[in-house]
Amino acid sequence: MSGTDWKKLFDAAEAARQRAHAPYSKFHVGAAILCDDGSTVSGCNVENASYGLTVCAERNAVGAMVLGARRPAAVAIVVDSREPTPPCGMCRQVLAEFGDSSLEVRSRTPAGKEARWTLGELLPHAFTQKFF
Ligand code: THU
Repeated sequence: MSGTDWKKLFDAAEAARQRAHAPYSKFHVGAAILCDDGSTVSGCNVENASYGLTVCAERNAVGAMVLGARRPAAVAIVVDSREPTPPCGMCRQVLAEFGDSSLEVRSRTPAGKEARWTLGELLPHAFTQKFF
């Protein structure tokens, strides 16, 4: 979205990252979503001793978003990695439930290395409700 305050959004993602529960992978992820009403929601990854129950930061942020505005205008992700990471396939599909292909997704490392995509680049030919 034009006019997105990316610094504010990345700050929210970083604050969320610091709350990650990732004792198994030790890969701490934070995500923040700017909603179309101007509000910001965030999420961190929450792992479990039963590994498959892990929920990614992005999907936890989407869960928070659904309580309010429901429509994402921009997504920021922060990872404690050398390279910025894109959202996983499952999170891309969940984002596509609410956002359109022009949704901007940016990922940063704490050192400030950044990558940028649109949701359409990350998940071309998304399966959505329009097919049924
Ligand atoms: N993870 C996320 O939170 N988001 C992604 O898009 C990729 C993976 C988390 C899940 C798990 O807690 C850890 O990163 C390692 O896979």
